[in-house]
Amino acid sequence: MMKSLTHRRLAELADVYGGLFHLKMGQLHMVAVSTPEMARQVLQTQDNLFSNRPATVAISYLTYDRADMAFAHYGPFWRHMRKICVTKVFSRKRAESWASVREEIDSFMKNVDARIGSSINIGEMVLGLTRDITYRAAFGSISEEGREEFLKIMQEFSKLFGEFNVVDFMPWLGWISYQGGNLHKRLDRARGSLDVFIDKIIDDHLEKKRNKKNNEGFDGLEEDMVDELMEFYDENGGTSNLGSAVGITRDNIKALIMDVMFGGTETVASAIEWAMAELMKSWDDLNKLQQELADVVGLDRKVHESDLDKLTYLKCVVKETLRLHPPIPLLLHEAATDTVVDGFKIPKRARVMINSWAIGRDKNAWDEPNVFKPSRFLEGGAPDFKGSNFEFIPFGSGRRSCPGMQLGLYALELTVANLCHCFNWTLPDGMKPYELDMNDVFGLTAPRAVPLVAIPSRRLT
Ligand code: HEM
Repeated sequence: MMKSLTHRRLAELADVYGGLFHLKMGQLHMVAVSTPEMARQVLQTQDNLFSNRPATVAISYLTYDRADMAFAHYGPFWRHMRKICVTKVFSRKRAESWASVREEIDSFMKNVDARIGSSINIGEMVLGLTRDITYRAAFGSISEEGREEFLKIMQEFSKLFGEFNVVDFMPWLGWISYQGGNLHKRLDRARGSLDVFIDKIIDDHLEKKRNKKNNEGFDGLEEDMVDELMEFYDENGGTSNLGSAVGITRDNIKALIMDVMFGGTETVASAIEWAMAELMKSWDDLNKLQQELADVVGLDRKVHESDLDKLTYLKCVVKETLRLHPPIPLLLHEAATDTVVDGFKIPKRARVMINSWAIGRDKNAWDEPNVFKPSRFLEGGAPDFKGSNFEFIPFGSGRRSCPGMQLGLYALELTVANLCHCFNWTLPDGMKPYELDMNDVFGLTAPRAVPLVAIPSRRLT
């Protein structure tokens, strides 16, 4: 039954039971929030009570007992981690992250160009691109071998995050899994491999820092996210040399790197693939976008960052994609205390699932909610995704909203713009646009069930 609790199934239940309903799974109370008004009550009116995160046994173990930001409960530790990340790691001022995006997109475009005239699996290629971006931003440029090893570790983490574990719903069954359960062995192994991998990287960075201090020819080296985090590093997690701030340990660094990897990879890749699929299904919109690109950029060069603000229709396409296909369709929060929403009692520790997918298709909030219509965002007063229009919350809203929004949008806009500007696209085997399968699958994100395959041809002069 748990496996059938997807964003689509919960939306169907909401049609019957309303914008707020309760489910009991084993001992776990769950509450589904499916309308803009209910989302506002949870994410704005009572944001302070709903800013905790639920975590399964596997997630707690793999995040070193919530030593990260994404799964830490709301409180001083989370605030401290979030401040470090927002000011140091995700900030627009951190030019290196933006440079990683630009340079990786450049080499991605060359790879596409090398395959002109043949069918390419866009889904697979963009996932490779976003992994390269986050990997490069996090660790700088380290060996190809190291990259492969890290990707394997991530894949196993991803599987384990989604694994069903009865103990999450019936904690009194805990003794079963502790009796040599297979899941526990896999969790142990996965975290062990990450320890070996990142400990080595941290040691290399400590060495780099020492050498830099001694000025041994390390000046001018690219700073990566680990470098930024090392500034706060304290083996014991005590007071740092920055005064009263709490230092961060190796476990915190490992868990934060995982947040960036999981938060910034599949989300951006799924949005790029959906945008391309919707455009290939709607040639009219693709033509409008290509015309805009030709007018603003010209057909003799690629799209640059400085063009993005002038590309109004591109922004509409991106918004419409995020409305119909929010990469994280269910926002998971937890009630910190017993409370009441719209007259209904919500018990302490209830898992609150805010269905951003259903909200983006709410028929009272949107005209023709299931139709891809980017031009709706050209109208005056159209909602924005910054978090105060509750009918459109692909990045969440309030305290736990996405800290990587700017970086994610940059990668998303620049990739879609360049894919549509540099190439024309056809579907393989004479497939018609209306034959494209637009189903999704539910996991950490909601990517396409059938990967998008298309054939590029050169468009630029
Ligand atoms: C199109 C791209 C992206 C989308 C749609 C997206 C969406 C989201 C959403 C919906 C949440 C949860 C909000 C909530 O619970 O209310 C979230 C949280 C988060 N995102 Fe993103 N995200 C994107 C890109 C990124 C990127 C590029 C990064 C990092 C480089 C990132 C890092 C995070 C982190 C660390 C959190 C947890 C924040 C916390 O719990 O305090 N995201 N994101």
